[in-house]
Amino acid sequence: MNRKKEQQKQQAAQTAANYIKEGMTIGLGSGTTAHYLIREAGKKYAQGLHFYGIATSRESEQLAASLGIPLLGPKQAGKIHLAIDGVDEIDRDFRAVKGGGGALLREKIIASRADDVIWIMDESKLVEHLGTFPFPVETVPFGMPFVKLRIREMGEVPVLRVRNGSPYLTDSGNHILDIQFAQDADIPAAAERIRKMPGVVETGYFGQMCSRIVAGTSSGVKVMEN
Ligand code: A5P
Repeated sequence: MNRKKEQQKQQAAQTAANYIKEGMTIGLGSGTTAHYLIREAGKKYAQGLHFYGIATSRESEQLAASLGIPLLGPKQAGKIHLAIDGVDEIDRDFRAVKGGGGALLREKIIASRADDVIWIMDESKLVEHLGTFPFPVETVPFGMPFVKLRIREMGEVPVLRVRNGSPYLTDSGNHILDIQFAQDADIPAAAERIRKMPGVVETGYFGQMCSRIVAGTSSGVKVMEN
């Protein structure tokens, strides 16, 4: 574990938790940084701030529930005031790649319905160009081999995500193909092309969905607004 990185994630989470206000419904992200946020949110709830959470993954749901945060399902949620989540990489135009933890589908559903979105991170996630992090593509299991072939026909190398020797299954029972694009690849264009392939449920490209970046850096927490 990189201590400095963890500290930056935690500091970003502490700052972002201050945007949670009484009565709000909060989209709770997934991944290590989002889990720091959920813990901070749990502390606030215990101190008397009342809000509801809607979780982007089963893991986050379990963590939030263990901290006493009341959770809503998609049928009860209605309005989502704010979503707070981590990213795998983000560029200067606030375009992000997410899904390293496999929760991209619910993350995108919740972020796209939220009035306000905050991405939180350590400074290593801030990049000049997207494409460093393997790009996740979620596919239904039946479609996966066909999507794999189509991506190969684009000249890219899709790699099926595996966990404990078996294909990784998302919370929705789907597979993930990870693509390591070339450094100069046009990620938004490739994402659009891949998104249209039958069998693809979602991609990890999150184009300008957040209004605010909260990043822990070596010189303190930086808040950037879109
Ligand atoms: C989960 O599917 C992802 O989108 C995470 O939000 C992203 O991978 C960031 O994770 P970390 O905070 O663990 O780096």
